[in-house]
Amino acid sequence: MFKIEVAKMSILFSPITIGGVSLKNRIVMSPMGMNACKAEDGKVTNWHKIHYPSRAVGQVGLIMVEATAVSLDGRTDPDDLGIWEDGQISGLKELVDMVHEQGAKIGIQLCHGGRKSKIPGKIMAPSAIPYDENSIVPEAMTEEEMYEVIAAFKESARRAKQAGFDVLELHAAHGYLINQFLSPLSNKRGDKYGGNLENRYQFLKEVIHEIHKVWDGALFVRISATDYHPEGCSIDDYIVYGSMMKEQGVHFIDCSSGWIVPPNFSERPGPGYQVPFASQMKKEVQIPTGAVGLITSGLQAEKILVEGHADLIFIGQELLRDPYWPKRAAKELNVSIDAPPSYEYIWNK
Ligand SMILES: Cc1cc2nc3c(=O)[nH]c(=O)nc-3n(C[C@H](O)[C@H](O)[C@H](O)COP(=O)(O)O)c2cc1C
Repeated sequence: MFKIEVAKMSILFSPITIGGVSLKNRIVMSPMGMNACKAEDGKVTNWHKIHYPSRAVGQVGLIMVEATAVSLDGRTDPDDLGIWEDGQISGLKELVDMVHEQGAKIGIQLCHGGRKSKIPGKIMAPSAIPYDENSIVPEAMTEEEMYEVIAAFKESARRAKQAGFDVLELHAAHGYLINQFLSPLSNKRGDKYGGNLENRYQFLKEVIHEIHKVWDGALFVRISATDYHPEGCSIDDYIVYGSMMKEQGVHFIDCSSGWIVPPNFSERPGPGYQVPFASQMKKEVQIPTGAVGLITSGLQAEKILVEGHADLIFIGQELLRDPYWPKRAAKELNVSIDAPPSYEYIWNK
């Protein structure tokens, strides 16, 4: 176990600025879909207003709002959060203001489900290849449909700016539409959007290009750094993609993995299993990265940062179990952190 000599300070609790956004610490709430839009209108509900600000009260530095649909037909589930129309901005703005009031920064993850959409109607993807044998066979997108989706990402970025978000994260991981273009397992196109690595990057390239026209804040991309498949993308392919993203002005790469094809669970992932991807990306592309996946303790998070594997630590499930996880991590690291004023006496007792 990693030991810290009576740590008076830690990297985990030190501030950092990425893409012009200053965070009070390195703890990020990983984007996690809540399926909490009961009216199927994609609007923020009371659940979101309790769920996200609670983690801000818990002293998370950056809250990343869940995968949010850029278009009605881009939802993965009917109860997904949405940013496809202007009527959704006011609820999102309320959420942003609540989180800011509690001293945290807030980002939003933009997503289109592609062949993973589980909604009625037409399902689109780069090629007519289903996710698995139980999934609907999607329709291969026409160029016009691609332009429409690219425009939807741009319009969603404009709405995110209007709502006051600090960070925009593109969901290019976990087998959703952008990932489907990047992977040769799901992209068999014969046009300029398919074939070699550069062509498979073209869709994301155009999304980023369009977003820059309306978004001048911090831009993150979440990737699946490997497809865990011999004919799929490896981390070495993603190093090339990462360089292209950096060249296009992406500030940060959030390194997850898998889910472009169904996982093979013969080997269950262990603690910090995706950290090596964040580490390699950071070193080879020279870009700030995020480590995510089975990071559960303050000591584990601090070790990742001390060893220089990543710049931010994304916490998922552990923050669902404990909204005040940063307080627990601080105790482990023997550092004192600010408490919300109303809790100050109790937290410092
Ligand atoms: C309930 C739930 C919902 C999730 N939804 C998303 C999502 O919307 N976008 C995303 O990129 N990852 C999503 N994930 C993955 C998490 O962000 C995270 O990468 C994963 O859980 C591994 O981190 P952990 O071990 O700390 O939970 C979700 C995970 C969970 C448990």
